[in-house]
Amino acid sequence: PAKVTVPSLLEKKLLRRPISAITAYDYASARLVDEAGLDVVLVGDSLAMVMQGHENTLAVTMDEMLLYTRGVRRAVKRALLVADMPFGSYHTDDREALANAIRFVKESGAEAVKLEGGRERAELIRRITAAEIPVMGHIGLTPQSVHRMGGYKVQGKTMQAIDELRTDALALEEAGCFAIVLEGVPRELAHIITEELRIPTIGIGAGPDCDGQILVLHDMMAMTFSPPAKFVRRYADVAGVMRKALEVYRHDVEARTFPADAESYHFSREVRELMHE
Ligand code: KIV
Ligand code: NA
Repeated sequence: PAKVTVPSLLEKKLLRRPISAITAYDYASARLVDEAGLDVVLVGDSLAMVMQGHENTLAVTMDEMLLYTRGVRRAVKRALLVADMPFGSYHTDDREALANAIRFVKESGAEAVKLEGGRERAELIRRITAAEIPVMGHIGLTPQSVHRMGGYKVQGKTMQAIDELRTDALALEEAGCFAIVLEGVPRELAHIITEELRIPTIGIGAGPDCDGQILVLHDMMAMTFSPPAKFVRRYADVAGVMRKALEVYRHDVEARTFPADAESYHFSREVRELMHE
């Protein structure tokens, strides 16, 4: 299977072939994702919540994002590797933001970066793409805006919000984004935006009419600890599998049935004979 690239994702939209995307934050899960043939692996700043246990995505740093991305990089051979720019890494000035985008490419091997926001990011996106770094946009429910939004709420519900999100999507395409994540918006709005853009839309909580879908790996595997959002489909109960295995392991250790003799190393015959002399 051929390497997924920015141009090959654009071509998928033209051919109306759905784009599959998922998050991964570590070598092992990224290998499974890549070997399963998904198109896009995102090292999302959602790792602040699912890997680090923070309440929202705001605390994770550039250095932490780079650390996780490097592990994922060693695993991913075919998928396109996108890294999320964390909160604060692109909000001060465009020079610093560009320097941070470059760090993802140079220090962690990311092939593209993602950042949240609409029109207000257009100039920055122009600068990053001019530096040869592909940018994925992200509008709608943008988790880094949690305090402004007053929680994680579906966006694009009023006529004004709908118009603004359509304008934002067009501004991101115009600024040079190669794809846009649409998160937490009515499916009808995602449908409209998907038809208005030449670049692919990747939906999460945005209905089935997007050009692609993305989920947080830990959500779809039931490796998160709060009730899932409406848009999460549980494809496996990995936490349940692990819980059971851990309980059995603990039982076996306490009952001294683990390890068995066959799971142990032994003296060689030579040493055994010397011991008996
Ligand atoms: O951080 C993340 O996981 C994301 C995706 C859900 C789009 O931004
Ligand atoms: Na994110």
